[in-house]
Amino acid sequence: MADFFTLGIETSCDETAVAVVANGTRILSNVISSQVATHAKFGGVVPEMAAREHGEAILPVYQMALAEANVKLKDIGLVAATYGPGLIGCLLVGLSFAKGLALATGLPFVGVNHIEGHIYANILERTEVKLPLVCLTVSGGHTDLLYLEKWGSYRILGRTRDDAAGEAFDKVARVLGLGYPGGPEVEKIAKGAVADLEFAKIKGLNDTYDFSFSGLKTAVINYLNRERQQGKEIDQARVAASFQRLAIEQLVGKLKKAVVDYGVATVLLSGGVAANSYLREKCLQLTNDLGITLYYPPVKLCTDNAAMIGSAGYFKYLSTGGDALCLTANPNLHL
Ligand code: KG4
Ligand code: ZN
Repeated sequence: MADFFTLGIETSCDETAVAVVANGTRILSNVISSQVATHAKFGGVVPEMAAREHGEAILPVYQMALAEANVKLKDIGLVAATYGPGLIGCLLVGLSFAKGLALATGLPFVGVNHIEGHIYANILERTEVKLPLVCLTVSGGHTDLLYLEKWGSYRILGRTRDDAAGEAFDKVARVLGLGYPGGPEVEKIAKGAVADLEFAKIKGLNDTYDFSFSGLKTAVINYLNRERQQGKEIDQARVAASFQRLAIEQLVGKLKKAVVDYGVATVLLSGGVAANSYLREKCLQLTNDLGITLYYPPVKLCTDNAAMIGSAGYFKYLSTGGDALCLTANPNLHL
């Protein structure tokens, strides 16, 4: 059978990304134009500036994605774009571009949930992932623990009650004076450091699969303020390593509870924080102990990209036939 090419488009936050994916799993191109340099000086994404930059980058990134894949627009079978969650001005750029392409060519169009995209990053360049499974999705905006009996259908076991895991990494990095985005910076400085500070214990969530990170974040801030007031020198690496250990102990603890309660043989990690090597290591320890299988995407596919949108879009199209062009962007879209 001939290959079916999906054009994936992702502009929900600060990466302008376009990819060509064959049959929902094989990456032919995956172009990402990052705005990190623009936002780093503000310590976070500035929505208005992000939307403007998407507007400038989308056409050249699209042209590069076709060229790298060595395909023409006429070879494409489906246009898939993120329609939420994300920053409204940013979402509108990619979504409107996708709709314009579909309208001009008559190609089918499908809107993709960004979180669903992160999950599908796990089946890119892979076919063997078996259901049922438990998936931990950890990004800058979301922390969800999911049970999947079939692809495209999600039972939410737990989610964060306050900050997302990635958001906590970013905030702790900021108070430590590290760069943006904070997750990779915290990981880097924490490597090999003593992680013995205890900070706050999370209370009251023991019987649930829910998470909480704001208490831990506040405890880190209070610790730093106290130490600075007393004129003590801050051991940045020790603080970062201790925070990272506690955040990841919480993630892995809840993951273990879900995996044991649901008796699954497969575990997925997805989202930007899944790039964290300490999280990967701890999850691998867990799944090895239980004799089950762990999958996580390569680092480049954990953080925002359009190949994951092309994959999720392809499979959504197969099961639903796609979306009408009147689909609107939804900044608060849930799974
Ligand atoms: O999935 P993503 O690229 O964007 C969202 O959908 O939010 O995730 C970005 C988040 C940021 O908070 C970033 O600090 C975090 O993922 N992150 C990490 C690492 N790499 C990215 N957190 C911890 N360790 C990392 N290595
Ligand atoms: Zn994301």
